Amino acid sequence: MYLGVDYYPEHWDVSMIDEDMQRMKEMGVNIIRIGEFAWHLMEKKEGEYDFSYFDMVIRKAQKYDLKVIFGTPTATFPAWLAKKHPSILSKDEYGHTRVFGGRRQYCYNSEVYREYTKKIVQKLVNHYKDEESIIVWQIDNEFGHEGSDMCFCEQCHLKFREFLQEKYKDINNLNEVYGTIFWGQTYNDFDEIPLPQPTITTHNPTLRLDWARFRSYSINDYAKMQINLVRELKGKHQKITHNFYGGFFEKAYDQNVMSEDLDFVSYDNYPVWGGLREPLKPGHIAMTHDYVRGLKNKNYWIVEELMGAQGHNVIGYLPRPNQAKMWAYQAMAHGCENMLFFRWRGMTRGAEQFCLGIIDHDNEDGRKFKEVQSFMKDVIKYEEVIKSEIKSDIAVLYDYDNIWSWHYQQQSSQFNFTDELVRLYTPFYNLNTNIDVISTSKDFFKYKVLVVPVMKIIDEKLGRRFEEFLQKGGTIIFSFRSGIKDRDNNINFEEVFPCKVRKIAGIKIKEAEALQKGQEVEIIGLNKYNGKKGKCSVWRDLIIPETARVLYRYNDKFYKENACITENKYGKGKVYYVGGGIDIKILNDIAKEIVVENNIRYIESPEGLEVYIRDYNNEEWLFINNHTDEDIEFNGIIIEPYGSEIVKRCV
Ligand code: GAL
Repeated sequence: MYLGVDYYPEHWDVSMIDEDMQRMKEMGVNIIRIGEFAWHLMEKKEGEYDFSYFDMVIRKAQKYDLKVIFGTPTATFPAWLAKKHPSILSKDEYGHTRVFGGRRQYCYNSEVYREYTKKIVQKLVNHYKDEESIIVWQIDNEFGHEGSDMCFCEQCHLKFREFLQEKYKDINNLNEVYGTIFWGQTYNDFDEIPLPQPTITTHNPTLRLDWARFRSYSINDYAKMQINLVRELKGKHQKITHNFYGGFFEKAYDQNVMSEDLDFVSYDNYPVWGGLREPLKPGHIAMTHDYVRGLKNKNYWIVEELMGAQGHNVIGYLPRPNQAKMWAYQAMAHGCENMLFFRWRGMTRGAEQFCLGIIDHDNEDGRKFKEVQSFMKDVIKYEEVIKSEIKSDIAVLYDYDNIWSWHYQQQSSQFNFTDELVRLYTPFYNLNTNIDVISTSKDFFKYKVLVVPVMKIIDEKLGRRFEEFLQKGGTIIFSFRSGIKDRDNNINFEEVFPCKVRKIAGIKIKEAEALQKGQEVEIIGLNKYNGKKGKCSVWRDLIIPETARVLYRYNDKFYKENACITENKYGKGKVYYVGGGIDIKILNDIAKEIVVENNIRYIESPEGLEVYIRDYNNEEWLFINNHTDEDIEFNGIIIEPYGSEIVKRCV
């Protein structure tokens, strides 16, 4: 197992490196990540490549028996390059150039940038291909992060038009699909098509979806160019990865595409960042791990695990003693099998003075040093359990077209895609079941239960796959707005909602309402939920049951005949439809019913105590993490505030 730190030796005096590495060894480190922002150090002047600084660092790493992940440095290009070729700089939505000074400001579609990328990557990988210590190449750093998924420059405009031409061939096809007859937007030629920059009211929804697809294509295409190059040149013992940032669903970027070309996926885990008053909810953090594991359906690495409070200009919540360490254990539970902490030491100069690491600016071994040390010394004992494969009976499905469609048309001011996904994920998480979070492009027939949040785009093919899944005995849970749109982001005509899944859900929806901030509608249980009450927010589909049974209905003057949650038997399977943003308590009951009926393994635990089950060698291991600031008792063990335990399950 690799355990390590993100190290930036170039930030410090050379004389500190030996002592740093000595301290790393004492902490339990066996790997460091270096180089990912140091292009200028390798090429101070154009064409004058010099790797002597990193040669020295690597020699020292060898002395301390530390392996190395080396990052290709393309996330931060040198100032001379921006000066010589300003066309490499990306532009924001207002067409303003992102000047040299921050990071990630290059345009993925700049041919000039691609040429310079090839040169530095070629030189670097050639130089180190036989270097035994370097076992992994990290490509760039966090593609798409910090707004870098978007660029509205002339090069992107041109490429976007080509992308559309390639897709639609004839401009009349595009006009037809987009419905440009509306507002007289009909194009005579592809070169009339605008970028969706700010204008009065809003752009065409299909144009915007194509724009998101194009952005995703641009990132993946640039990355593929680098990955292919590294693959061609690297040593056999070296693997290729990329570090994905969190908040995946906020960007125009499908990471499944890039993951196919990587040897393994890496993730940067920051449960709290910037001015957040509180960390993400435990279920949200867990969901992100399950998403990352789902990219390749394999265990993964974390190459940046948060240790200190973080933020560029504003900092928020300080992780409580042992809390960041507990997040590291939680990650291991969910399939992370090698981990590096961000960063070795807080930097005194530059933009990240407040992105704190293991060691603070005083350079003393403090609380965080001891926490990481105890984590590393402990976790290594469970290496084989941690490396075991995770199998889940439940999959939460997402689809990037659908996410981007929501991004541009929220419909309710209270809508947030990630929140809706977490809403349906959390009740299953609360039961400590194993869950995969995967794209609809993956095979889902091996699961017993599919959780399908707010899937407003459902095409014929997906509808048929759902039907087949049910015929084989599966259970599906949909939530509101399912199937209102087609793959082109247009609303379905002459078909009743939820289109493509109406028959399997046994319902129809003729009317719906967006619920505003603070607006909640009471819902009342029927049949097996008789006597129960709850609340619905964000949205409500006014469901008319056809073959379905009503589980909850709305309790208001006009719509009490309409169902809010239904259940329908179809084939050998069952479909639940949740018509709004429903209370967790109600969803907990339904999740429990589904898990029991489908004979899925689960464990009940007190609120805030996560118990993740791993199978190894015909034994069950429990990864127990206390996400609260109170002692919690579980199976006779007291788990301290933010405490973690890995124990074999006694049957
Ligand atoms: C990550 C990034 C690192 C560093 C860190 C600060 O997103 O990859 O380079 O900026 O955030 O928290």
